[in-house]
Amino acid sequence: MSDQVQDLQAAAAKLNLGQYQKHVFLCTGPSCCTPEVGLAAWEVLKKEIKDKGLSTGPNVCQRTKVGCLRICCHGPTMLVYPEGTWYNGMTPDRIPRFVQEHLVEGKPIKEWIFAENPIGK
Ligand code: FES
Repeated sequence: MSDQVQDLQAAAAKLNLGQYQKHVFLCTGPSCCTPEVGLAAWEVLKKEIKDKGLSTGPNVCQRTKVGCLRICCHGPTMLVYPEGTWYNGMTPDRIPRFVQEHLVEGKPIKEWIFAENPIGK
């Protein structure tokens, strides 16, 4: 096995890649929200995922900060896979409820969802 593959496999193992139950993408602007609001939401998202025990274990969730999800209004915009749930207005104050209800309890928050696109269904 090459050093490159070993490096990549070590990085993947550190991230629990291969065990994710959900993957959350959060746009931090600048068009759907200001970078200040987007980055503040991102910091709360990271903390809540960690505090709720979703960084490891059977409900492990990956989170990724992105520059644009091509919606570009009424953000911060968030996308959750595998279910393909699109949220708008995900300001920092909404993140704790999102993590608890959607990620922990498996109950998407209908009033904040503007589109759904499950992949592979
Ligand atoms: S800048 Fe957030 S969706 Fe485009």
